[in-house]
Amino acid sequence: MYIKALLRCSGWILLLSCLSAQAQNQVKKIGKVNTAHISGQQIIISAENAYAEITVYSPAVIRVRLDQRPLTTDFSYAVVAKPTTTRIQTSQNNDAINVSTDSLQLRIDKNPFALHFLTPSGEVINEDEAGLTTSWIGDEVTTYKKMQDGERFIGLGEKTGNLDRKGEGYTNWNSDKFGYATNQDPIYATIPFYIGIHHHLNYGIFFDNTFQSDFNFGASNNRFSSFGARRGEMNYYFIYHPQMADIISSYTSLTGRMPMPPLWSLGYQQNRYSYYPDTEVLRIAQTLREKKIPADGITLDIHYMDAYKLFTWNKSRFPNPAQLAKQLDNMGFKLTVIVDPGIKVEDGYAAYESGKKENIFIKYSDGQNYTGQVWPGWCHFPDFTTAKGRDWWKWQLKSYIHDGVRGIWNDMNEIATWGQKMPDNVIFGYEGHPVTHQQAHNIYGLQMVRASYEGAREELKKRPFLLTRAAYSGSQRYSAIWTGDNRAEEDHMLLGVRLLNSLGVSGMAFSGMDIGGFTGNPTVSLYARWMQIGAFVPYFRNHTGVNTKSSEPWAYGEEVLEITRNYVNLRYELLPYLYSSMYEATRTGMPVMRTLALTNTFDANVYDARYQNQYGYGPAFMIAPFESTKEFGQIYFPEGKWYNLYTDAVVNGRQEMITPLSIKTLPVYVKESSIIPMQSLIQSTAEKPTDTLFLHIYKGNKPNTFVYYEDDGESFDNEKGVFYQRAITYSPAEKKIVLDKVNGSYPSKFHHIQLLLHGFDEQKSISVNGSPLALQANGYAFLSPISRFDPQGFFNPAERCSVLQATFENGNQLINVDL
Ligand code: NOJ
Repeated sequence: MYIKALLRCSGWILLLSCLSAQAQNQVKKIGKVNTAHISGQQIIISAENAYAEITVYSPAVIRVRLDQRPLTTDFSYAVVAKPTTTRIQTSQNNDAINVSTDSLQLRIDKNPFALHFLTPSGEVINEDEAGLTTSWIGDEVTTYKKMQDGERFIGLGEKTGNLDRKGEGYTNWNSDKFGYATNQDPIYATIPFYIGIHHHLNYGIFFDNTFQSDFNFGASNNRFSSFGARRGEMNYYFIYHPQMADIISSYTSLTGRMPMPPLWSLGYQQNRYSYYPDTEVLRIAQTLREKKIPADGITLDIHYMDAYKLFTWNKSRFPNPAQLAKQLDNMGFKLTVIVDPGIKVEDGYAAYESGKKENIFIKYSDGQNYTGQVWPGWCHFPDFTTAKGRDWWKWQLKSYIHDGVRGIWNDMNEIATWGQKMPDNVIFGYEGHPVTHQQAHNIYGLQMVRASYEGAREELKKRPFLLTRAAYSGSQRYSAIWTGDNRAEEDHMLLGVRLLNSLGVSGMAFSGMDIGGFTGNPTVSLYARWMQIGAFVPYFRNHTGVNTKSSEPWAYGEEVLEITRNYVNLRYELLPYLYSSMYEATRTGMPVMRTLALTNTFDANVYDARYQNQYGYGPAFMIAPFESTKEFGQIYFPEGKWYNLYTDAVVNGRQEMITPLSIKTLPVYVKESSIIPMQSLIQSTAEKPTDTLFLHIYKGNKPNTFVYYEDDGESFDNEKGVFYQRAITYSPAEKKIVLDKVNGSYPSKFHHIQLLLHGFDEQKSISVNGSPLALQANGYAFLSPISRFDPQGFFNPAERCSVLQATFENGNQLINVDL
């Protein structure tokens, strides 16, 4: 009798588990809406197979949450914004719920549940693909969006491939990919934010789910674009603005913006894997000074440590790190060191003993510390998803700051371990709600740089510089990012440009790549071209791998040294412009490297494979990077008028042009009406430029404003209003340049302003606050002649820019210049 019952019972269990296995393999859709409740800015829905919560975050941002289980309070490492009080109108009938804000409308169909985002005038911006909408296969959730005619997709952060991602699919799982191929996916970072573009409309979608996620922009299908994840909620933010810049601004108001970086981190940085011992580091620094290559930073890779053990120094290579840092500082260099998360398992090693005692390492589900292999051998890894783990790290990190280190380079934080298969059953504290590796993997790097930034900031009490390889949305709040182990190849250099442009539209404004290439050795011309491009990249660091040739600017011969010097000099002269552009990124999220799609969103040419690498460096410049082997390059000039930087020759926009290329110059153009502040040449940011600010204005037909910004470049006083900020406006119609009244209490280091007018050939004089001032003609050159290699001079003198100039006093009050 008992056995019979047991058999009957186990039959039921078998049947139930069979049914559940079948359910795991079915596509389960949301189905029909059963109840919908509108409460303030939220709509709470219970549907046939799922629950939904839709929240108006702001007039332009709507959050959508969907799950098979009832939705409870959730938590995000990425999002720092709360919903703002927004005027909305709602209505509901049997078929749909309508929500409208001043910026957009949302229609929620009830049977079945489906979302349609519309402009205020009713055009479809984005909508669920009818019949597919959102569904689950087991725990895996995906939202399917109708592919609109001619729709393009850009963004998604550090993703290889073309600017326009149409026809491609991508996976987010932060991965250590040494020497990755130009189409490899995934690589190191997860930024699940993209921008869709069609019919003169553009929108952003940020899918905030940290599990392994997939995006499909019409890969292997012609019906939909989709995004989904292995587990977790469907949780996305829909953003609509007519201008792409505003979409980026809304996305970065959700996930945060970069803080002002230390000024020195915008100077040139020299690195290799690895410089040692200390005398070699000093030799490199000294040679940069002797050869007059301006520079601000030297970075130490893993060989500074004792047997790769974090928070230690190899005493025979670096007997006195504090003294080295001091010597470098005296020469105008700041020291950055690499940190990896792996703590070597070795009895007696202080960090290991203390981490074990404090119990801060990530663990298997049975409580045993997880052990994985990386540079030092077998290691444990701090749990950066707990306050305790972060505090421990901050405490350890202080020793570097005491030694005079000013930059923390966070590497291998995907987490990278030999074998590349970190087990899923490793548990992370996740702020008191433990989760598996599956959920924590993609945010590990973000949490590591959070701890590094906070630790360094607390101890240094000045701005530290942070660099990371792995990232998740929000990492921009703490750190710059670089694109890992690229190859010394022509197409990798151009891929690097696209990666940085993509990171830029994805909220990460402070970015760089290994200039010169990490794996392999560049050719002489590739090195020269890459250094030129590097001068127009936010984080400008030359770095190379462990077994490669020397890669300092003098390692490729005299001519390349002179080419490099020319561009590094230009970089330093442009620092007031770059610093102000960084400031813009801190206020609006607008990146420094700007794909042309950012301001020419609906111009098909900018997505053309021939032109997709062209980019804006701040608001004024357009850089056209080409392989160093090319003798001619085809350039697309978008709408407007463009000046050749070196000659001032004007090209009208909306046309393609073939131009001869020389390895001595990188094609750079300046947009009409641009306002570019520059300074005299310095050898490092520790040196003061002369007290004249050179203000270049390019004649044009469009009004333009540039927000000029200065502060002390290192302290946090800027957060208390100690800065110097002024809007400079050029109004062609009124023939005026106005330097607005200064905001902030920082005194400018520039007591004079020299106005340099490009394209104003007829102008004889100007008046400054009513007083006339004669203009002087000047043959201005942005680069120096490379005399030994070009006895005629670098340029034909007739080809210099002919500018008209006048100098006047700088002050805090409004300065009115009449043209
Ligand atoms: C991997 C990093 O991507 C690379 O830049 C670094 O040089 C090596 N790790 C060694 O630390």
